[in-house]
Amino acid sequence: MPDRFTGKVAIVTGSSSGIGQSIAIRLASEGAAVVIDYHSHPEGANETKAKVEAFGSKAITVQADVSSLADTQNLVDQAYIQLGGCDILVNNAGVEKNAPFLEVTEKDYDMVLDTNLKGAFFLTQAFVKRLVALQKPGRVINISSVHEDMVFPNFASYCAAKGGMRMLMRDLAMELGPVGITVNNVAPGAINTPINTALLADKPKLNALLNNIPLGRLGSTDDVSALVAFLASDEAGYITGSTYVVDGGLMRNYKEQ
Ligand SMILES: NC(=O)c1ccc[n+]([C@@H]2O[C@H](COP(=O)([O-])OP(=O)(O)OC[C@H]3O[C@@H](n4cnc5c(N)ncnc54)[C@H](O)[C@@H]3O)[C@@H](O)[C@H]2O)c1
Repeated sequence: MPDRFTGKVAIVTGSSSGIGQSIAIRLASEGAAVVIDYHSHPEGANETKAKVEAFGSKAITVQADVSSLADTQNLVDQAYIQLGGCDILVNNAGVEKNAPFLEVTEKDYDMVLDTNLKGAFFLTQAFVKRLVALQKPGRVINISSVHEDMVFPNFASYCAAKGGMRMLMRDLAMELGPVGITVNNVAPGAINTPINTALLADKPKLNALLNNIPLGRLGSTDDVSALVAFLASDEAGYITGSTYVVDGGLMRNYKEQ
């Protein structure tokens, strides 16, 4: 592995499982100290911490519900108090709720929008305030989804949140470029993680999806974290304001009937 993050500190939200866990481990494998945020699974966060520490990197676990402003502020504070700063923010925490539009409840809408969009919004604000005060550069990487652009019937709240994340990223890239902070989205397609438990158990649905993926397989969490590591690295210093899709070709698929 290259050693691109020695001396850097990264916050990765929702890093007790799935893509977030893989990102935390990948950044740590290249030297980053990591703030492992978890919502409700301390055992997953501890598993991530053990894997980070196996690379000789520092890690702390912090319980934070990203939809709470106080919790997001505390996440940033803990990075400074316990690890001495924070250079990289990965807004990965996310939830989806399957429901036809007419059956979406206010409670579920709030849960999806507050976790996926409000959380990224205000955690980024807390992260950036510190950097601006210190006149330091930084990296913001949001894990959005192909559904920041591609329709997903019965997941209207998820699409609204991820679409909002796309415009948030574009806007912040403009506002924060002058202070040396890059902002980009990584948009995964279908990745083998707990968020897809129901899909993975439904063979006909899974096979139909696989037929729509030119590379013929689900993505792995490593496929996503490799791209995040590149965007977080110095090599990506001139890249801001865009979405990078990692989907095996799903979005570009076209078939003659
Ligand atoms: N797996 C896929 O196919 C796929 C595709 C596109 C986008 N994504 C996105 O990737 C991200 C990670 O998802 P995943 O696939 O690893 O699934 P996952 O369910 O394993 O991960 C989601 C993480 O977010 C955390 N989380 C949920 N609500 C939270 C809250 N309020 N505060 C803090 N953390 C919270 C969960 O605890 C979990 O660790 C999500 O934003 C998801 O929308 C996933």
